[in-house]
Amino acid sequence: MAKAGTPVAIMTEILKIENLTKYFGGLCAVDSVSFSLDEKVIMGLIGPNGAGKTTLVNMISGAIPPNHGRILFNGTDIAGHKAHAINNRGIARTFQVVRIFSKLTALENVMAGLVDRRQKGPWRLAFASLVGGFGKQSQNPENRAAAEGLLELVGIGGYRDELAENLPYALTKRLEIARALATRPKLLLLDEPSSGLNPAELVDQIALIREINKQGITILIIEHVMKVIMDISDRLVVIHYGKKIADGKPEAVYTDPNVVEAYLGGESHAAR
Ligand SMILES: Nc1ncnc2c1ncn2[C@@H]1O[C@H](COP(=O)(O)OP(=O)(O)O)[C@@H](O)[C@H]1O
Ligand SMILES: [Mg+2]
Repeated sequence: MAKAGTPVAIMTEILKIENLTKYFGGLCAVDSVSFSLDEKVIMGLIGPNGAGKTTLVNMISGAIPPNHGRILFNGTDIAGHKAHAINNRGIARTFQVVRIFSKLTALENVMAGLVDRRQKGPWRLAFASLVGGFGKQSQNPENRAAAEGLLELVGIGGYRDELAENLPYALTKRLEIARALATRPKLLLLDEPSSGLNPAELVDQIALIREINKQGITILIIEHVMKVIMDISDRLVVIHYGKKIADGKPEAVYTDPNVVEAYLGGESHAAR
């Protein structure tokens, strides 16, 4: 309880991870990791390849269940819930290897995200589209306008009627972000949104992530390129061999001896 005269904390905790643990056979990929994340913050999650970053995001998004631990999202434990239910609560994610519906147009891909939140999963919708059942959704002017708005936001409005498979690689990463945003997340999990991008595309991608954050969306971004994460994060968590080894302001984390050792000692990507 705050005493009279004590400043009241204005930050609200949106996510709290407690002792989250995942084993794959004998391998402990995520080892009792705990951290909390305040609303509207951009938090970077870094660590060398194989550190357990994607596994952590897979548990938060419901792709895989943890063996132990809690995942409190706005105070509710969602650990082990289904991905679709977690998305409905307000968590969306993108993938390290882009997952979009290549045979749908850019617009239809985003609309798959829009309707997902209200009714079915996107896969069923994509299937309906392929067998000709997508017409009703795409004729709904409200859905259409919302999807067009999201394509504009991510800077690919000009590609809306193009099949996703025809988009240049960097733009497929943007399309995936637009589709995630269509589910109206409060928390967006981005798994290496900069991977495979050239330096100019990287600058654009960072600007886009900042813009999304300005619209009030909390962001957890996985990255293994140190300079990208230093540039964008308000806060940094470092994991190494499944364990959290640092947590704090980027400048402090960057010079933390444990972090320097993790990056310089292992198969490092810090310099890239
Ligand atoms: N589905 C899985 N089955 C078995 N091992 C896995 C699986 N997914 C990840 N791993 C292992 O767990 C560890 C962490 O992987 P991952 O979370 O993908 O790391 P990162 O994203 O930090 O590079 C690695 O050793 C990886 O080989
Ligand atoms: Mg990964």
